[in-house]
Amino acid sequence: MDTFSFQTTPSVLAEIGGTAKIGEFLAARGCRKVAFVTDAMILELGLANAALDGFRKAGLDVWTFSDVQPDPPEAMILKAVEEARAEGVDCVASVGGGSSLDTAKLIALLLKCDQPIAEMYGVNLVKGERLPLVLAPTTAGTGSEVTPISIVTTGTNEKKGVVAPQLLPDYAILDAELTVGLPAAVTAATGIDAMVHAIEAFTSKRLKNVVSDCLAKQALELLGSNIRTACFSPENRDARAKMLLGSMLAGMAFANAPVAAVHALAYPLGGHFHIPHGLSNALVLPHVLEHNLPEAAGAYAELGPIVFPDLVGKSEAERAAGLIDGFLKLGPELGIPSRLSELGVNHNHLPMLAEDAMKQERLLINNPREMTLEAALDIYTKAL
Ligand SMILES: NC(=O)c1ccc[n+]([C@@H]2O[C@H](COP(=O)([O-])OP(=O)(O)OC[C@H]3O[C@@H](n4cnc5c(N)ncnc54)[C@H](O)[C@@H]3O)[C@@H](O)[C@H]2O)c1
Ligand SMILES: [Fe+2]
Repeated sequence: MDTFSFQTTPSVLAEIGGTAKIGEFLAARGCRKVAFVTDAMILELGLANAALDGFRKAGLDVWTFSDVQPDPPEAMILKAVEEARAEGVDCVASVGGGSSLDTAKLIALLLKCDQPIAEMYGVNLVKGERLPLVLAPTTAGTGSEVTPISIVTTGTNEKKGVVAPQLLPDYAILDAELTVGLPAAVTAATGIDAMVHAIEAFTSKRLKNVVSDCLAKQALELLGSNIRTACFSPENRDARAKMLLGSMLAGMAFANAPVAAVHALAYPLGGHFHIPHGLSNALVLPHVLEHNLPEAAGAYAELGPIVFPDLVGKSEAERAAGLIDGFLKLGPELGIPSRLSELGVNHNHLPMLAEDAMKQERLLINNPREMTLEAALDIYTKAL
């Protein structure tokens, strides 16, 4: 058997209303004042109420930072750390999308570890510890609650990752009630992001392992069979809970068998055009799969029928091609844009996007087939 190692968040609670328990978890660890990290929309929708009530009942003081912006900018994170330090917080909790969770992870780290953030970008470069940390996702999604990763926008438009075991939280809470009001377009795009995590983990050239493989397949089964219900019958809590579970399992998978070219080509779209992360992935996904097909046909044939059951019983070549074709049709079926040109991207932008994608070496080394500048340009051209 191949050697592998596997890490994940040590405690997980999947329970409707479970965010009410964050306070007692932190109080039991001797914490007194929590930095609560979220965005204005989450507060406005009342999604933070149960967590905030729980803090009060547990006797914790609370400092709320609700200025998280999508694709969190480095300057915003550093400002939050400065304010949190002045407030004297001793633990961090977040209820929100991937942007809030990623921000909370870095706040917890930067409050305890005095290494400059600029030295943390990359894999395993963090030297130091973090404060106690609890995360509850409101999208299904990034899987950030079980990944050792925070993605930051540096300067004006480059997305960089801090990847370090210290970023795995102490506790992840899956509360499906939080995702019931998620708009259909966000449900679709974030759900496809989670599917991409599972697919890229399953085909990762480096660190592919048997535990991630099991998780990726189970994630795709849950996500593939519930994404339409979650989009078209948003109040179906069973479908919502299964999407959240699928997203977490996909997160556990790719935290240990890292993602690759779909994400590398998606990041410049977020950086330059502020296209949401899930949608960026959905737009390039079928075209990257097509590029990878010569090296990944067996894996795609295995995954095809899990996501699209009408492929069961077909030949290996048909199942692999069917996975790609299925994703070409899924975006439009769910009502999200399927072409870059619908989002303000034109031909002149493509060389810049391809050059930026090639900078994502951390991701490209995991791709089952080599990515070149020409291939990246070709993929963006097909996605235009
Ligand atoms: N850490 C990781 O492992 C990892 C993995 C993938 C992506 N990411 C990062 O995560 C970020 C994307 O996160 P995201 O896709 O979860 O979105 P997000 O956190 O950026 O949120 C997008 C929008 O959806 C809204 N929203 C979130 N939950 C809602 C709900 N339940 N109801 C209504 N509105 C809601 C938010 O207020 C926001 O306006 C990107 O920065 C991406 O790079 C991180
Ligand atoms: Fe992602």
